[in-house]
Order: sequence, then structure tokens, then C-alpha cells
Amino acid sequence: MTTIADTWGLHEGHFWLRGRHPDQPVSFDAATGMWNVFGHPEALRVLGDPKTFSSDTARVLPSMEMSSEGMLTQMDPPAHGKLRKLVSHAFTPKVVADLEPRIAELTHELLDEVADPDRLELVTDLAYPLPVIVIAELLGVPGSDRHLFKQWVDRMFENTQQFSLVNQSDEQERSFTVAMEQFRHLADYIGEHADDRRRHPRADLLTKLVEAEVDGERLTQAEVVNFANILLVAGHITTTMLLGNTVLCLDAHPEQFARTREDRSTIPAVIEESLRFFSPFAALGRVTNVDVELGGQHVPADQLLMVWIAAANRDPREFADPDVFDPSRVPNPHLGFGRGIHFCIGAPLARLEGRVALDILLDRFPHLRTDPDEPPRFIPSPTMTGVRRLPLLTSGS
Ligand code: HEM
Repeated sequence: MTTIADTWGLHEGHFWLRGRHPDQPVSFDAATGMWNVFGHPEALRVLGDPKTFSSDTARVLPSMEMSSEGMLTQMDPPAHGKLRKLVSHAFTPKVVADLEPRIAELTHELLDEVADPDRLELVTDLAYPLPVIVIAELLGVPGSDRHLFKQWVDRMFENTQQFSLVNQSDEQERSFTVAMEQFRHLADYIGEHADDRRRHPRADLLTKLVEAEVDGERLTQAEVVNFANILLVAGHITTTMLLGNTVLCLDAHPEQFARTREDRSTIPAVIEESLRFFSPFAALGRVTNVDVELGGQHVPADQLLMVWIAAANRDPREFADPDVFDPSRVPNPHLGFGRGIHFCIGAPLARLEGRVALDILLDRFPHLRTDPDEPPRFIPSPTMTGVRRLPLLTSGS
């Protein structure tokens, strides 16, 4: 069977996309000095036990001079819970649900600007700008500055190599330095806006963050900046990948595509299956706090684990026919948004953006298909699966 990965030449490391399954659910990789967790139950166990499996991976990684204060993804209990509660107050389901009309309006505006009646470049024309403008407006920074964030965020994810604790090559060090520089640009940018909101509060998320209190204490500048940065970076790459991947999955499965066009109520299930089948975040990092038995292996303390949620999402012990794209699977306990205390805070927003944008896209383009002469281009990172460019033909012939 030719898979999407074979058709378009995706990263060789993404073996699960080619219908291959790992020999063992957990294994040590001597080349990188890290443990790989590929199995679904094993991934669930790791993500569900932050006491044993810490998210503070910085302690085993090469030195990072950036402050990790407020980096929610890197924090463990109890500090994580406090900050998460606080930011959840600012990022409520109602705040997200209220965005629906604006998401629809922006989708139409962006599609109105497409000049060529016969083609669309999904990423540039819609999937990139839409989530960035939405999160920028929510935070309260000008969406028109998006070319600045794009420059920084693109450079952050330029690394094509699998990270290794064993071979700390010049290339690896260089990509760390470049990524840190980009993060600093973003931090300076957000920092200036946060300072402004302290002096001139507005009705935006940044103001809510600078005014938010946990146990009578306000967030520090570093906490505000780092959290806002995570939102801005997450707002960039994730929904972009989700939309692109969903269109790619539908393109490769014409029957499902036709069904989705006919019955739009199936869109949420299509999006969930796309998150399972083509998971944007392929891997999450964790560190063992203590020695532990996992998937039949003895993993010592202080080891870096790569939890390959994208591979776990194809574990035949959890999903029947895991290599079949089947939006009708119920339940669909994919790990595309993670699990446990770090479960994606932006999931409701990503799902809403995905649903609204796909629905409008199908309304406005009765024909949408990939262009064999202009194949999609993918983000080169081994831990992410998503398009960087997705040229689509929109004419019927
Ligand atoms: C956490 C995936 C969209 C904000 C996560 C995690 C995953 C994930 C897998 C768990 C990380 C871990 O356990 O280490 C995705 C995917 C998205 C998406 C696949 C889109 C399809 C978004 C959006 C935002 C966002 C749109 C915000 C605007 C966050 C934040 C966390 C997070 C703040 C950290 C939560 C915590 O550590 O408690 N996301 N995400 N995500 N996501 Fe998303």
C-alpha cells in the first residue's frame, strides 16, 4: 500500500506513517542516548504520572540560558497546577467559543485575497495566517506583525536532525543557539507589549495575564512573557499543521473526502482522526525522576524519554486497523493533544479553527486536490509532522 508518507517523501524517521510498527513499545536508542516510548499504554502511563516522569527536560539538556519561568510545558506539580489554573482563567471555553464569528470572518477575508482562481497554497493563503492572527488578536498584539513572528518561529524549527545526548555536534549546538536567539526576539517583543499593558490595560489576554494573581501574587514578567510566547508559537505551527494534514488525509482518501463534503456534521470526527493519523506533534519529552519499569524495560533515573505520541496513535493494541484513516472510529482515544496535566490548553481553539476553516474551505471550493507537479513541503523537524507548503488545484478539470 502506498502511504501519504511514501507519496510525498516525508521524513524517513516517521516510520509509523509508512504502516511500520516498532519492535518494542519502549526501547533505548544508543545513537541518541534517549529512550523511545512508542506504545499507547506506555505513553499513557508516562503522561499520566508527572511525579515519576518530569516535564522539566531542561535539567538533562545542554545548558539553556533562557529563563524557564512560566514555561508551562516544562513545569511539574505543584508549580504547574498553580500557573495552569491561572492561565485557564484567562483562556476560558467562553473566550474561545466567542471567537467563532471572527474565525469565520477571517477565513473568508483570507480566501477573498487569493488571486489565482485555479490554485490555492493552503499554508500561505489560510492555514498559517488564520491561527496566528487569531492568537495575536486574542493576546492583543498586532496581527499585522505576523511576518516578524513568522521569521522567528520558522528559524526556531529549522533543525532537521534528531536531537542526540550522545553526539552533541556543532550542528546541534548551532541549532540550539539559533532557536534561543529567536525565542529572545519573541520575548523582547512580547515584553514590550506586556509593559505597555501594565500602564495601559486593555480588553485582551495580555492584560489579563499581567493582572492575574495566584495566592495573592502576580505573575512575574518572565512568566507572562514565556506563557504568551508559548501561545504565540503554539498558535503558529499547530493549527497550521492540523489544517494542512487534514486536507492531505482527505485528498488521499477521496471517498472520505466526498462524505465529508456531503455531511459537514462529520468534520469534528475527521479532525480527530487526522490528529490520530497524522499527529502534528510527533513526540513529547519527559525525564525519569526515579528508576522505573516501563514496557518491560528497566529505565534508570535521569533519563530523557521521547514519548512518540504519533506512533502510539497507531498502536494496534489500542486502535483496530491503525493504518486506516477512518473518521468513524468510536472511541478515538488519540494522544494528539497529549494527556494528563499538560493536556493541550489550546485544544478547544485548535478544534474550533479546524472545524470552521475546513467547513468554509469546502463551501468555497467544490474541487480541491493536491498538485502532482507541485508536491507539498513538510516541516523538516523529526518531532513534527506538518506541511510548510500545500499547493492545491481548485479547478474541476
Ligand atoms: C500542550 C498539541 C494547539 C497551547 C500541548 C501538548 C500537545 C499539544 C501534545 C502536550 C505537551 C506535553 O504534554 O508535553 C497541540 C496540537 C495543536 C495544539 C496538536 C493543534 C492542532 C494549541 C493552540 C494553543 C496551544 C492553538 C494555544 C493557542 C498549548 C499550551 C500547552 C499545550 C499552552 C501546555 C499545557 C501545559 O503544559 O499544561 N499541545 N496543541 N496548543 N498546548 Fe497545544
